[in-house]
Amino acid sequence: MEDGISRRELVRLLGTSAAALWLPPSARAWAKPAPLPATAPARDEAYWASVREQFVMPSDLAVMNAANLCPSSGPVLETLSKATREMDREPSPACRARMHDGKEVTRRALAEFLRVTPEEIVITRNTSESNNLVSSGLDLEKGDDVLLFSDNHPSNHVAWKEKGRRHGFTVNVVPAVSPHPGADYYLEAFTRALTPRTKVLAFTHLTSTVGDLLPARDLCRLARDRGILTLVDGAQSFGLMDVDLRDMDPDFYSGSGHKWPCGPKEAGVLFINRRSATRIWPSIYSAYPGAVGISKSFESFGQRDEPAILALSEALQLQTRVGRKAIEDRGRELAQALMAGLRTLPGVKVWTHPDPVRSVAVVSVQPGGLDPTKLTLALYEKDRIVCATRAGADRGGVRLSPHFYNSHAEVERAVGALKRYLTTGL
Ligand SMILES: Cc1ncc(COP(=O)(O)O)c(C=O)c1O
Repeated sequence: MEDGISRRELVRLLGTSAAALWLPPSARAWAKPAPLPATAPARDEAYWASVREQFVMPSDLAVMNAANLCPSSGPVLETLSKATREMDREPSPACRARMHDGKEVTRRALAEFLRVTPEEIVITRNTSESNNLVSSGLDLEKGDDVLLFSDNHPSNHVAWKEKGRRHGFTVNVVPAVSPHPGADYYLEAFTRALTPRTKVLAFTHLTSTVGDLLPARDLCRLARDRGILTLVDGAQSFGLMDVDLRDMDPDFYSGSGHKWPCGPKEAGVLFINRRSATRIWPSIYSAYPGAVGISKSFESFGQRDEPAILALSEALQLQTRVGRKAIEDRGRELAQALMAGLRTLPGVKVWTHPDPVRSVAVVSVQPGGLDPTKLTLALYEKDRIVCATRAGADRGGVRLSPHFYNSHAEVERAVGALKRYLTTGL
């Protein structure tokens, strides 16, 4: 997705000139950022600061909550608002047709981003919907087994369990071990838990609990060799990691645009491997299907928020310009610095494994005796740091997930703030 192609396509789709695509400064609630350099300079702090400038959150706010919800960049917000205004200003058949075409632009962008074909892409609302379209769409019955990972999100865990109750199939679970015991451990644990009746293996690429990275490629191969379908929940890897689905080769992969890709809300993805297209039924039958491949039968979801879908391609374009590997490397670098700082604090337990083969950029920590909910609030209100509370007894605490718009200075600020609260209390 070369820089400029998407812009030209958007201009064509919105039936307007490139100049008009951008709102006049007076109509914008934020300053238009200077464009990122077209070629990659040294990836130093100054470069990452220019990435940060693409975003509209106040400059004093350190947002380390990508595992939950990422802010959209200025260009994404402008595409979203521009397309929404076009749609409502000129509700003509021609405009409707252009908006439908816009979905195909995004489908191609998603396919390129995940290194698969547009024929294998379904544009959904989010990972929850994608996961549920899989668990609802497969022919499973009494006598069949589904194998899960205990740290799956409810949309990939509760969903299977409830559908098992309804349709009579059995759900087995491989428990997460903390700290992450390594890829070999999990390969062996999943191998042992498979039965001759296992039909589906559904696990999470990078967990949202403590940021454990699972050996997705090897697990998919393990299942494929036995004729077992795989659902890989990619909510925490899509837009953070340099994901290559052709190489990983799952049957199904799910993701949300509003997390690491920094896209709009309610635009997500379900990859359906071409070899698996005949194994899954659509769950929704309505109007306005996609134009190619599986989307022709699987994506008749009725009227969509097409401006949001269009804006997702803008988000992917920004990521591509920065570089997918560069984004993954930056996330790892910041998370490594964060974990190194947190490990020096007395009484603090870092749940996330520091080995970069076992984690990426989701970092969970038990903050000594501090109350996690109060800590999250204090960090936001007093220190201008956004993170998430992980409530409960199971590896509870707070979760910080730095992304490509964060800096080392912000990481140091987070460690310093926690150190202060450990001394002074909340
Ligand atoms: C691993 C995982 N799967 C699924 C989801 C659900 O994502 P969404 O709310 O975008 O559907 C999340 C959300 O945090 C997640 O972390």
